[in-house]
Amino acid sequence: MSEQVKQLFTEIAPRYDQINSLLSLKIDQLWRRAAIKHLAGDRYRQVLDLCAGTLAMTQQLLQVNLDCHVTAVDFSETMLQIGLKKLPYGDLARVKIQNADAMQLPFPPHSFDGIMCAYGMRNLDDNRRALEGIFRLLKPGGKLVVLDFFAPDRWASRLFYATYGHFFIPMLGRLLSRHRNAYEYLQRSIQGFYTPVAYAELLKLIGFQNVAIKHQTGGISCLLTAERGNP
Ligand SMILES: C[S@@+](CC[C@H](N)C(=O)[O-])C[C@H]1O[C@@H](n2cnc3c(N)ncnc32)[C@H](O)[C@@H]1O
Repeated sequence: MSEQVKQLFTEIAPRYDQINSLLSLKIDQLWRRAAIKHLAGDRYRQVLDLCAGTLAMTQQLLQVNLDCHVTAVDFSETMLQIGLKKLPYGDLARVKIQNADAMQLPFPPHSFDGIMCAYGMRNLDDNRRALEGIFRLLKPGGKLVVLDFFAPDRWASRLFYATYGHFFIPMLGRLLSRHRNAYEYLQRSIQGFYTPVAYAELLKLIGFQNVAIKHQTGGISCLLTAERGNP
């Protein structure tokens, strides 16, 4: 499965940002901005951008948190390279890209003050195992920010995914990406993912504290934040 996902993102990489903006009418930028705010404080010096793709989150964080260094990880080198080209020259010294699998992250425990993952967790084969790894990588007191399209649990988001999500996203996605099933995969992965509440329970089970859920635009997107408590 993960090999197929990697191939899919590598194939759509050159058009990924443009398609995102068109399909979401640029609302994804607001969703991202709300997520980034949680890592804006100066205590978040070392931040991991997991499933970083074309560095949309990294780019925004560097603008609002002038003290941070970001390690951007993705298993598609093509996505990362496209992202790197978008960064202003002055920001390059604060970013390290790393081609790695989110299921086997090559960092020592307690490496990061903050970890963010936007629209990436849904693609992973085993979220419980991935979150256990993330928990280990956070310093005590560190924060996890997960932004994703969760399985809809509100009437507005159910309606959205049963109409626009079911008919238009796969069709528009196919036309724009020129990839036969990339955006059918998107729809399938959303339906097969956790609801926000079930994901919050999983985070607590792993040991995260102060778990909070924020529905965005009627629950179409959802932001979860959680902390690794101080021992
Ligand atoms: C939907 S994109 C999100 C990219 C970016 N975070 C954003 O907000 O635009 C998902 C990204 O996750 C990456 N990805 C999926 N599974 C992964 C895994 N197991 N390890 C590392 N990266 C993965 C894909 O290559 C892709 O770039």
